Amino acid sequence: MSGDPSRQSRQLTAARGQRPNSRVGFETRPHAATARHGLAHPLDQRLPIDHGGLATCHSERSEESLRPEQPQESNGSVEILRLRSIAASRSLGCGPARAQNDTSRVQGGEKLSQLLRWGRTRLARLGLEEAPLEAEVLLMDALNVSRDYLFTHGDEPVGAKATREYCAHLERRGRREPLAYITGHKEFFGLCFHVDRRVLIPRPETELLVEECLRLLQLSGAHTPVLADVGTGSGAIAVALAASRSEVMVYATDNSQEALQVASFNAARQSVQERITFLQGSLLAPLPEPVDMVLANLPYVPTDILATLQPEIADYEPLAALDGGRDGLAVIRGLLSQAPTRLRPGGRVLLEIGADQAVGVMQAASERMPGAGVRVVKDLAGLDRVVVIELAA
Ligand SMILES: C[S@@+](CC[C@H](N)C(=O)[O-])C[C@H]1O[C@@H](n2cnc3c(N)ncnc32)[C@H](O)[C@@H]1O
Repeated sequence: MSGDPSRQSRQLTAARGQRPNSRVGFETRPHAATARHGLAHPLDQRLPIDHGGLATCHSERSEESLRPEQPQESNGSVEILRLRSIAASRSLGCGPARAQNDTSRVQGGEKLSQLLRWGRTRLARLGLEEAPLEAEVLLMDALNVSRDYLFTHGDEPVGAKATREYCAHLERRGRREPLAYITGHKEFFGLCFHVDRRVLIPRPETELLVEECLRLLQLSGAHTPVLADVGTGSGAIAVALAASRSEVMVYATDNSQEALQVASFNAARQSVQERITFLQGSLLAPLPEPVDMVLANLPYVPTDILATLQPEIADYEPLAALDGGRDGLAVIRGLLSQAPTRLRPGGRVLLEIGADQAVGVMQAASERMPGAGVRVVKDLAGLDRVVVIELAA
C-alpha cells in the first residue's frame, strides 16, 4: 500500500519512543500483563494523534450535522425539550452546577471550546492520561465534525442533542468503555471499520500480519491467491487484504456468528464483499478447499492473565477473542493441527503471537508440520510478533 498511513503512524510512534506494534504504546497506566500480550488501551491504536485514523473514519460521515442545531418545535415545546434535555443530562452526570463555583458542570448552551475543556477536566479527574485527546475525539464524534472544525469553531454554541450525546460519551468512557466502542469505529490499515462489543477492536500490531502477507504475495506473483483469515472478528485482516490486492480471494472464518455479521458489514462498506466468503465454524474446518495462505490473529492471552488486564479489555472485549487457554496457545495449536491438510503445496501460515510466545509456537509448528520452515517477524519495537510457517513447494 503506497504511502501507507498506518506504517507512517507506527514510525512516528516508534520515533516517540513508544511501542507501536505491541498493543502497548500508549497505555494510560503501564500494565505488565497487558504489555506482554500485546493488548493496549484501545486509544493506543488511534495515536499518535489519530488524525489519520479519525480523518479516515470521519470522511465517510455526513457533513450535515456541521450545521448548528435548529429548534424544530414551537416555543412551548422547545422549553419542554430544554427541560427534558436538562433532566437527561443530570442523569448522565452533566447536570447544572451543584455549587456556584463548580464550573466543571454543563449548564446547556455552552460553546464548543467550553465543552471541550469541561470534558478534558472530567476525564482527567478519572485518571485517564490521554484525557485531552479522548475528550476531543468524543466531542468530534458527538458533533460529527473534524478536528480542524473543533479548533476553528470554538466560539460556536453547541446544541442540546450534541451536548447530551457528548455527556453520554463521557459517561461511558468514565466507566472505562473503550473509545472505539463508544464512537463505533476504528481505523485499521488506513480503512475505517465498524466495531462494537461483538468483536475485538483491531490492533495496530496486526497490520504487521497484513504487511507480511502482502510482501509474500508480491514475491510469489501468484495469479489468484486464495487466503484464509481465521478468527476474522471485525474482518480487519480479510478486508484490508482484499482492499489492498484486487486479485485475492479470501475465506474469512469465525466461530462467532455475531462477529461474522460485523465482518460482512465491514466488507460491504469497503466494497470487497464479492471477494470474501464468510464461513462460520471452528478454525479451518469450514474451508471448502485448500488455500495458499492462512492468516490468523487468534486468542492468545493465557486464561489466568485475563482478569488482570485493564478494564477496557477485560470488561468489554469478547472473552472468546482473548482467551487462549492455560498457556495462551491452545487455539493456535488447534489451528496448526488442522493446517497440513488445508494448505496447498508451498502454502504458509502466518500467526500473530504474544511477544513471549515465539518459542512455544515454533515448537508446536515443528511438531505438527515437520519439515516446514519456521521464522519469526519482529515488530517495530523489536518484539516477536508474527510467526511464519512455510510448507515445502
Ligand atoms: C483476537 S480476535 C481477532 C479478530 C481479528 N482477526 C483481528 O485481528 O482484529 C480472535 C477471533 O477469533 C475467533 N475465534 C476464537 N476461537 C475460534 C475458533 N476456534 N474458531 C474460529 N474462530 C475463533 C473469535 O471469535 C475472535 O473473533
